[in-house]
Amino acid sequence: MTILSHQLQQRLATPLKIGSFEIKSRVLQSPLSGVTDLVFRRLVRRYAPDSMMYTEMVNAKELCYLKQLPRIMEIEPNEKPISIQLFDCRPDFLAQAAQMAVAEGADTVDINMGCPVNKITKKGGGSALLRDPETAEAIVRTVVNAVSVPVSVKTRMGWSDRHINILDFAKRMEDAGAEMLTLHARTREQGYNGSAQWEWIGRVKEILSIPVIANGDIFSVEAAVKCLEQTGADGVMCSRGTLGYPFLVGEIDHFLKTGQSLATPTPVERLECAKEHLQALWDYKGDRGIHQARKHLAWYAKGFVGAGELRDRLSRIETVVQGVELIDGAIARLKAVSP
Ligand SMILES: Cc1cc2nc3c(=O)[nH]c(=O)nc-3n(C[C@H](O)[C@H](O)[C@H](O)COP(=O)(O)O)c2cc1C
Repeated sequence: MTILSHQLQQRLATPLKIGSFEIKSRVLQSPLSGVTDLVFRRLVRRYAPDSMMYTEMVNAKELCYLKQLPRIMEIEPNEKPISIQLFDCRPDFLAQAAQMAVAEGADTVDINMGCPVNKITKKGGGSALLRDPETAEAIVRTVVNAVSVPVSVKTRMGWSDRHINILDFAKRMEDAGAEMLTLHARTREQGYNGSAQWEWIGRVKEILSIPVIANGDIFSVEAAVKCLEQTGADGVMCSRGTLGYPFLVGEIDHFLKTGQSLATPTPVERLECAKEHLQALWDYKGDRGIHQARKHLAWYAKGFVGAGELRDRLSRIETVVQGVELIDGAIARLKAVSP
């Protein structure tokens, strides 16, 4: 059983301050491309109303040439706290895009300096900025000057095990004006493999004055508590642990505030949530939503007898009705076994 020490509870009892912006939660929902759209965020926020959420990363250069805002940048009226994440390597494009993000309602602007995808690093964006700290610094300075909201950075430990430069890099980001740094404790070379090396988060925390958010392998309340204790970080950011499980941020937030664990949702509750997610994606995006829903539904269908076969069938649905029928069938079978 996880226990919340008095010390940790006290340390995290105050709001998280990102510059002048305050958040009443120390648990954040990470930006996830293809996942953290308005529909997904609405589900996460139901269980974690105080937590900061991020849009999917938005291409800053494209934004400057588009007439209309891309759908992935859309935020709901009164959706708070919310950050819009941008990527590119050109300070001017990022500054212009940041102004558009603020106009859309972003409470903070986050710059992606951790994405490992070739298509992005080849053009100098994402984690490629770890190899070009001068440009990264120029980006932060320029964006900070362009907007009135706090600017944050999300990055990794370095390009590879032989090139871990996060201590120098993080300090440069702070000196350039970043108001928060989130560290995904892996290298670019690691991608999403191997364990997150939380010890680096602790080292960064020791040398920065701005809040440091721990990211990587936060899959449970237990992991969040362990990471916060080991690193001294100011908060945790959940990522893959929320795929098919929009309850995680709320579970951790509740535990950090009360020391009490919420009841884990049953498979039936998870499937009811999956159905709602599917319906909402269809309402919001139409056929594209159904296509995107397939992967979400497969993530929800885990941890009960027959989940494998359900996953397989859900990943091929063409319509909402098909998805709902499959999920309702699975719910009926689960209820028949344990009513
Ligand atoms: C499907 C997927 C999409 C992601 N998209 C983004 C993104 O848009 N911006 C970003 O900063 N990180 C993105 N990430 C990285 C995560 O935010 C996070 O840093 C990483 O998954 C490590 O945390 P974890 O080990 O808890 O999953 C993505 C990760 C995944 C798996």
